Amino acid sequence: MPSHDSTLEEIKDRIDIIDLISDYVQLKKAGQNWKGLCPFHAEKTPSFTVSPAKQIFHCFGCGSGGDIFTFLARSENLSFPEAIKILAKRAGVTLKTTQRDTAETGEKEALFNMNKDAAWFFEQNLLKNTQAAAYLKTRGIGSDVQKLFSVGYALNSWNALLTFLTRKGHKPDMIKKAGLAAQGAKGVYDIFRDRIMFPIYDLKGDVIAFGGRAIDNSEPKYLNSPETPVFNKRRVLYGFNRAKDSIKDTGQVLLMEGYLDVITAHTYGFTNAVAPLGTACTQEHGKLIKRFVEEAILVFDSDEAGNKAAKNAAGILLESGLNVKVLSIPGREDPDSFLRKKGKEAFHALLANPLSIIDFFMLQKGDKRIIAREAIETISRSPDKILQGTYIKTLAEKLNVEERYVREEYQRIKKQHPEGQNRPVPSAQPKPKAGPRNELYIIKLLLQRPERAAEVCKIIAPEDFKDPVARSIFSRIKEGTTELERLLSQSDSEERNYLTGISLNEDLENPEFEDPEKGLNDCIKRIKDNKRKMLLQELQGKIKEAELKKDFAQLKKLQIEQQKISRSG
Ligand code: UTP
Ligand code: MN
Repeated sequence: MPSHDSTLEEIKDRIDIIDLISDYVQLKKAGQNWKGLCPFHAEKTPSFTVSPAKQIFHCFGCGSGGDIFTFLARSENLSFPEAIKILAKRAGVTLKTTQRDTAETGEKEALFNMNKDAAWFFEQNLLKNTQAAAYLKTRGIGSDVQKLFSVGYALNSWNALLTFLTRKGHKPDMIKKAGLAAQGAKGVYDIFRDRIMFPIYDLKGDVIAFGGRAIDNSEPKYLNSPETPVFNKRRVLYGFNRAKDSIKDTGQVLLMEGYLDVITAHTYGFTNAVAPLGTACTQEHGKLIKRFVEEAILVFDSDEAGNKAAKNAAGILLESGLNVKVLSIPGREDPDSFLRKKGKEAFHALLANPLSIIDFFMLQKGDKRIIAREAIETISRSPDKILQGTYIKTLAEKLNVEERYVREEYQRIKKQHPEGQNRPVPSAQPKPKAGPRNELYIIKLLLQRPERAAEVCKIIAPEDFKDPVARSIFSRIKEGTTELERLLSQSDSEERNYLTGISLNEDLENPEFEDPEKGLNDCIKRIKDNKRKMLLQELQGKIKEAELKKDFAQLKKLQIEQQKISRSG
């Protein structure tokens, strides 16, 4: 494989696995996932499962699993590179190894190029316009930050951009398609006029749209590009392309409300900040985040609207399987104004103690019982039973009632939404042919709690795993690969099937297994116990031998060792 990791990621980002597989299999939504009849073996009840959040599929009938590339390769009987080529084309991603084929430059490419030209034009305008530059200054955006985010300015003119783009060879029809111009009674005119322009990028760094802020009090305050073939608001988070690495490094995404919040956060070193584009948080945003990280911190404005948006976002992100926390900003500030007034350290201090979802809800003003129900409703949307269990426990503590009452309420609320997004369709799923459950749990838990990998690896070694597939996966986790996506791309088919299997198997969401920390500890203990048992068995054999040989010195030594091991439990 050429150095494909980031390109493959781009392709995965642009292709919806449900879309792709739907070309081959009739899928029906079942909870978080989608189900259908497996295309790789004959079956009458659907055990083929696709997870849009994890971007993988797995058949619990025949055990095969993988990502979009493995799916297409198997379905069309292609080699892996052939599958990549086809999907790259479908996604509009240029493979670095192939020649740019101008004949194939499609509509999307034309839109990317035009947006790039427009962004350049806006930037030039800003440098020449004193009024716009002055406004940016009042917002605390210096020239370095301006350049970093390619902030620009749309002239107060009906056709400056149109003229510029036409001269560059872009067709008026395409300019309209890009959402940069519109047809009026007297002709085509620029949509963005007299606005500070924020280019919006996709993950690979192409400009796909713009947000334009008025520099006076005109309405709307922000004008965003309409949906175009390259821009779907529901899928894009402002700043994600710059934040991606930092999100992975910190293990967190900071979800804010506005462009300027994100820009200021990045300026102050919080480079994992992103924001939706003037829309509520969507499931697609959740999916996008979930591909990179397990935890989202909501950093919303500390007003009524901000609280409401945070509650709403919390439910949606929980539904994607994310762990969600909330930063409550004191005073009537948003992240932008807070950072400017109080500075980096103050924000760090906030970040050190984010509120859990439960704490966040319970801090809301109003009738605690109503709020508690709202909280239960929100957490019931998470597919993560472990997380739910923890939340229910905390909520019971906060409310100072016995846990079973909260649990009953939770059951009642769940029943009220029987068609709820997350209710898994009960079906007799054949169990995946997997190794010892204990080993399976450990790997599943480590995928969810990668931060405990180092510690776990100190206690158990790959050799402790009986199942060779689990052992090999565990060695790679030990070497530092803890992301499902990366593990998959390094796996052979057996390992891939194992990984997709444990990731999607709902049977493994054992309700007894609510506390992940405890779960891991139990697993570790069981493995250690097993290890000890094996050692003791071995010793027992040796002791018998020594007895037969009447080698009392040796016998004594072995017995001491036996006692030592027995006691270490
Ligand atoms: P805010 O009104 O909180 O704006 O909207 P802001 O980010 O604090 O902006 P400043 O500081 O006043 O310049 C938050 C986000 O909602 C979207 C934008 O994405 C904005 O960043 N929005 C807001 C719109 O799309 N249209 C609007 O008219 C207003
Ligand atoms: Mn603001």
